[in-house]
Amino acid sequence: MSQDRIAWAVDVVAPQASEQLLEIGCGHGVAVTKVCERLVDGAILAIDRSAAMIAAAERRNAEYVAGGRANLQVANLHALDPGHRRFDKAFAIRVGVFTRSDPTREFAALLRLLKPEGRLFLFHDEPSTGADEVAARLEGAVLRHRWNLEARLTHVFDGGELACVIARPPS
Ligand SMILES: C[S@@+](CC[C@H](N)C(=O)[O-])C[C@H]1O[C@@H](n2cnc3c(N)ncnc32)[C@H](O)[C@@H]1O
Repeated sequence: MSQDRIAWAVDVVAPQASEQLLEIGCGHGVAVTKVCERLVDGAILAIDRSAAMIAAAERRNAEYVAGGRANLQVANLHALDPGHRRFDKAFAIRVGVFTRSDPTREFAALLRLLKPEGRLFLFHDEPSTGADEVAARLEGAVLRHRWNLEARLTHVFDGGELACVIARPPS
């Protein structure tokens, strides 16, 4: 995924200096770097179920890991146990479970992980599918799990489109 898309996604997430963030499926950790550039005393936990991806993300973000701003962990979202830590915002960029399969376990985990007033940001794109259709699928997943839809966005740029939904946990 191009850095333009990730830059837009991080702009939408809009990390604030003191926030606690969770990234699901961080891959090489490009978004982690962009988030850490905005944090002061906040922090990000970025997970990926692939050890190779976490190793790459750690190399890329070595400075932020050493400073405590970023914590990278091999984990599958549905089984993540961050102790008592709760997040202001959670986001996922191009993590297929939210559009292609049944994300019931993942939404249940996010309910445990987010603060009650927290926000979930799901970004996705598919080469052969328009962003409106991808956004509708993301929205369907959010509503089926009784989360509250706050916004549905699409972003068009050279060579692609990215869809995003923003949701709040059920109260
Ligand atoms: C297509 S890559 C996208 C990586 C990065 N977010 C990006 O946009 O460049 C999807 C990543 O999510 C990870 N992943 C998929 N499902 C996951 C899950 N349930 N929990 C944690 N990581 C997951 C995969 O291992 C993979 O690295």
